[in-house]
Amino acid sequence: MSFQSLSGFRDFYPEECALREHIFSVWCESSRQFGFSQYDGPPLEPLELYKKKSGDEIVGQLYNFVDKGEREVALRPELTPTFARMAGAKHRDYKKPLKWFAIPQLFRYERAQRGRLREHFQWNCDIVGEASLAAEAEILALIDHAMRGLGLTREDYVIRVSDRQFWLDFLQQNKVTDEAKVYDFLQALDKIERASEAETREKLGPLADQVFSLLEKGTTSERLDTLMASCKALGLADAVKIDLRIVRGLAYYTGIVFEVHDRSGKFRAIAGGGRYDNLLKLISGEDLPAIGFGMGDVVIGEILKDKGLAPKTANIESYYLVIADEALRPQALALASALREGGYHVDYPLTAAKVGKQFQAAEERGHKFALVVGQEYASDGVCGLKTLATREQVNVRPEVRDGKVSSLAPVGC
Ligand code: HAM
Repeated sequence: MSFQSLSGFRDFYPEECALREHIFSVWCESSRQFGFSQYDGPPLEPLELYKKKSGDEIVGQLYNFVDKGEREVALRPELTPTFARMAGAKHRDYKKPLKWFAIPQLFRYERAQRGRLREHFQWNCDIVGEASLAAEAEILALIDHAMRGLGLTREDYVIRVSDRQFWLDFLQQNKVTDEAKVYDFLQALDKIERASEAETREKLGPLADQVFSLLEKGTTSERLDTLMASCKALGLADAVKIDLRIVRGLAYYTGIVFEVHDRSGKFRAIAGGGRYDNLLKLISGEDLPAIGFGMGDVVIGEILKDKGLAPKTANIESYYLVIADEALRPQALALASALREGGYHVDYPLTAAKVGKQFQAAEERGHKFALVVGQEYASDGVCGLKTLATREQVNVRPEVRDGKVSSLAPVGC
């Protein structure tokens, strides 16, 4: 009998892990550059946390079960409710605005398809305690920074920004106040790009003409105009575009919402987020404004592969010791150990192999350098150092102090 992973779940072989770690490192570095601190929460939460607060779409996709203590629990499908609980509980211990980031693995029982799996890692950045549009601008700048950090350009992606409050005001003006009707209206707008105009018109009913006319005219809101002015000042004008078709599927958003898409339209949404000023009150009883976003690793990984921007190996400056004469293995092992003590990344062949095969192994394993331990090392402490990509070779003398290699000093020329 042979086992396979469950549909929608991934095995991460080294190449996939290299890509994942590359994405995570850009996410972490960008977060820190923008002053966000890392946090995390539990992967399993009470089912109740997601009911109503996230909306039917997420609730319909929950991985939930009753545990041995008869508790109804769910694997986290998103981090925002956990974040709201944690931030609400301890916000007094931190300076505001609170800026936190996390990269949780999330679980949604979706139909597995390109860009949508049953587990994914999602970079979350959220700001609590800032009600002004400065928080929105900061979040959009962070997304743009990370996208470029991954090697993409503004010709590859666009951040489509909208205003859910604009539509809530529109519904109020049209005397639509029933919660279920408001929800259905927002759902119809959220699906507008994936449905035919006839289908959307049917869902929108008597409001359809007005909605389509507002969209055609390129209507904006005062909030959106103010935000766009800040985006311009931050140099984001060509990364951000107003698009009122974006309303987001999740129930808790209250103001500006946005999604990141690839401009070619080949892929699913790369990221999404917005302002959710009522969620902390609902979950923790603390009335605090909040805004944030989530960016998944699946779609961005597909895009990086598509554009040839995905690293195949971990980007580490590592060394492979080539043991030119098997009799020198003891010296080579002592050198490997001293290099590692000195902080170098080192690998070597575990069994005897021809020199050519060792160089081949060094390349196949994705090392940057081959360090040759031959007779010259035994006689004078000198090794050949070959940069594998360029084939350049120099001689170096490992400087050993207190059992550690402190440098690989070049020898002669
Ligand atoms: P979301 O739009 O549901 O928002 O997810 C954000 C991003 O996560 C999506 O744009 C997509 O890249 C990725 N994603 C979502 N579901 C899947 C899936 N099944 N497979 C692969 N990738 C997926 C949220 O989750 C909000 N909680 C984000 C947020 C944070 N809003 C405020 N703060």
